[in-house]
Amino acid sequence: MALKNKDLPTLGFLYMDYVLRFFDHSNFKGWPNKIETATYHWGNDKDRFIKEVKRKKIDILIGNVPATAYETFREIARELPHVQFIPSLDTQFSNKSKENVTRFAWKYDLPIPKTYIYYNRPNAYKFLKKCEYPKIIKKSYGPSNYGGYFVHKVDDEKEAAKLFNEKKYHPMYMQDFVPMEADIRVMLIGHKPVCAFWRRAPEGEWLTNTSQGGSMDYMDVPKNVLDLAVQVSKDAKAEYWACDVAYGLDGVPRILECATAFAAFPYIRDWIGQYIMWNLSEGRFRKPHMPMFNWEELGKVSPDLLRTMRHITFGKYDSSYDGEYFGNKKKMYGEGERYLHELDDEYKVYKVKRRWTEEWPSEKWNYQDNLSLENLKSMKVPNLTDKNTPNPDKNEDEESVQTKDVSKEELKEVLTSIDGIGNKKFDKIIEEVGSTQDVVGVLDQSPAILINIKGITKKLIDKITDSWENFRK
Ligand SMILES: Nc1ncnc2c1ncn2[C@@H]1O[C@H](COP(=O)(O)OP(=O)(O)O)[C@@H](O)[C@H]1O
Ligand SMILES: [Mg+2]
Repeated sequence: MALKNKDLPTLGFLYMDYVLRFFDHSNFKGWPNKIETATYHWGNDKDRFIKEVKRKKIDILIGNVPATAYETFREIARELPHVQFIPSLDTQFSNKSKENVTRFAWKYDLPIPKTYIYYNRPNAYKFLKKCEYPKIIKKSYGPSNYGGYFVHKVDDEKEAAKLFNEKKYHPMYMQDFVPMEADIRVMLIGHKPVCAFWRRAPEGEWLTNTSQGGSMDYMDVPKNVLDLAVQVSKDAKAEYWACDVAYGLDGVPRILECATAFAAFPYIRDWIGQYIMWNLSEGRFRKPHMPMFNWEELGKVSPDLLRTMRHITFGKYDSSYDGEYFGNKKKMYGEGERYLHELDDEYKVYKVKRRWTEEWPSEKWNYQDNLSLENLKSMKVPNLTDKNTPNPDKNEDEESVQTKDVSKEELKEVLTSIDGIGNKKFDKIIEEVGSTQDVVGVLDQSPAILINIKGITKKLIDKITDSWENFRK
């Protein structure tokens, strides 16, 4: 059912002082209601920001959170349990640091260059003595992305130790050096690739930095790279996403970076806006049609012109009309020659559903503050033994330590023992919220949200809250 104006959620743009705005109203062309804004002023602005969002009755906050505000915004999100963040703070986990990208990849078993993260500095120096070289050393976290400025190649232990002594990067983040042909940026919306290009290093260099003389082109990005990017976007549950993939000389793609914050032409931000409108409106707004390999054609347009082009639309393939470019055109892709419109069926635009559980709670995943140099008192870290350091070489276990898992049977028992909830209503709750674990998340965080479900009253919610607290004791 298409939602009427008054039933649409209230949108708000999440803005930050001093940070470039990814979206504005023009990206959400056709949205019939006012779009609010909420601006974070940094410093001690958390409480005021929360009040602003509440006062403006914003249901959905749209925008990227930069690395340095990430942890604060996880706190803010907890204090605004009714508000949906797009992208969610869990999806933006990778925006914070290279360490987070790595932990995300470890959890989902995604290919990355072999990576070593040390908070225990003495152990890291021991590692430098015995590891193989060359290694890549990176600063994991910083206020902005410098396109290789904090990425160093070291050829032996001496160089590596010297670098760490000088730079004092913390954690100590290292990767095996991957000889590569080039790296590839893929941008996705609703898990569908919408733009992709190669970035090649200048002759004889290893850093594929286009601002330092490297080149880029849009042609023939390989299937295994696009497929990997789709997988990564799905694992991140990302409404929109960019992925930098290192294409090894061995033909193996490995993820270097991924994030929701990236540089994109305005027409791509328009598509994202249209996609979000479609995602939120239950059919009222049309899904944007973004044909596969459109970037090979748009990439022929000069960048200066592309920067001015807005709201680009393409006709959809129609078998009764054979004059159409994206209907007729074939392309070598993967195993053989394919029609472009077939690829559109294969690479679908998916809806991203809101989730109610926290996948990356800071208590567990904010290693950086939990194990900061300040907390560790000195660079020598005298008391830190291996026992209390998370082992960086092993994959972290997959479950959040936050809440004990609750089975569907247990949940059913708790809820159906309440006067006014029978089996039918129980099923409806699961269906509306999404899954057993999502219901558990709602109950832990903010049972009041259940008011959105037909047949659930304020009074019933009070009873549910009591029973749930009892059960959780
Ligand atoms: N493990 C690696 N092996 C070889 N080259 C790498 C490796 N990691 C990064 N690079 C090169 O360095 C560039 C910058 O690294 P990246 O992780 O993207 O950091 P930045 O945040 O500075 O962009 C990459 O685009 C790639 O060319
Ligand atoms: Mg990069």
